[in-house]
Amino acid sequence: MATGTTADGWDKNAEYYEATIGVNLTEPLARDLVSWASSVNPLETKGSKAFDNGCGTGLVARTLAKLYPDLPIVAADVSSGMIRQARKVVEKEGMKNVTLQVEDATNLQGLADESFTHTFCLAMIGSAPDPQKVASEMYRVTRSGGVLGIGSWVGHCWPEAVQRAVRRALDKPDYTAPRMVDPSTGSAEALRKLLQDAGWEVLDVKEQKAYFNWPNKQAAMDFFFDKEHVNPIAELMSKELDDEQMRKFRPEFEKAFDEVWPDATKMYETAPLAVARKK
Ligand SMILES: C[S@@+](CC[C@H](N)C(=O)[O-])C[C@H]1O[C@@H](n2cnc3c(N)ncnc32)[C@H](O)[C@@H]1O
Repeated sequence: MATGTTADGWDKNAEYYEATIGVNLTEPLARDLVSWASSVNPLETKGSKAFDNGCGTGLVARTLAKLYPDLPIVAADVSSGMIRQARKVVEKEGMKNVTLQVEDATNLQGLADESFTHTFCLAMIGSAPDPQKVASEMYRVTRSGGVLGIGSWVGHCWPEAVQRAVRRALDKPDYTAPRMVDPSTGSAEALRKLLQDAGWEVLDVKEQKAYFNWPNKQAAMDFFFDKEHVNPIAELMSKELDDEQMRKFRPEFEKAFDEVWPDATKMYETAPLAVARKK
């Protein structure tokens, strides 16, 4: 099953992304990546220019803009809905140094070679259709000696409960849950290899827990079963079930979820993170 998500899917989720996932799960990682990358090449150095690739609502770009109000920042995403949402917040927060544009990370047509001293990519590469191409395109638009701060997901948080529930509810004992993200970015070592294959000198990799901070189990269920504004990664988990199967699946999933995450407030995903340099 393909792990790639579509611009359309993210458009529908755009207004809900930050409140449900962004602020809790990815914003702390954005802060870490920014300070990690800046410890390699200080962002305050004159001439710095930053790129937030797959910016969503702009959590990395806005973290940068708060810390470095004079730093030129370009933030791009394939979803025009996400860019619209990012623009609303950037304008509200009066961040004049952030330029927003629609770009597909597998083909950054609107960005010239060697444009940036700092490139960031958080929680996007494993959901793009061709992660290797994404790594190569970021290499192209980064200056020689420039730094990349990147984070992906291992993708373990939902599949185990999904698998248990489908096996029991639909009488499919051999069912394997779909992958949340592309395995080529699904561990620190996989991410290291992917980046090296694109030419990056990988300076360090690590894996870090990222907590959803659900107030209770109901919030996790509301997120998972929200069909109207569904998160495209969560959607991958139950996409192949029809309405009838879904009716049987839900109660079993609620039970399996309790087994895997007995305390929903402690639910987490694991993020492979890397910092790399363009030779
Ligand atoms: C989980 S969100 C992460 C957003 C943001 N980087 C953050 O950490 O909050 C994933 C984002 O990747 C974007 N995305 C997915 N495929 C993409 C592609 N091929 N090119 C650019 N952006 C893409 C989606 O539109 C979505 O905004």
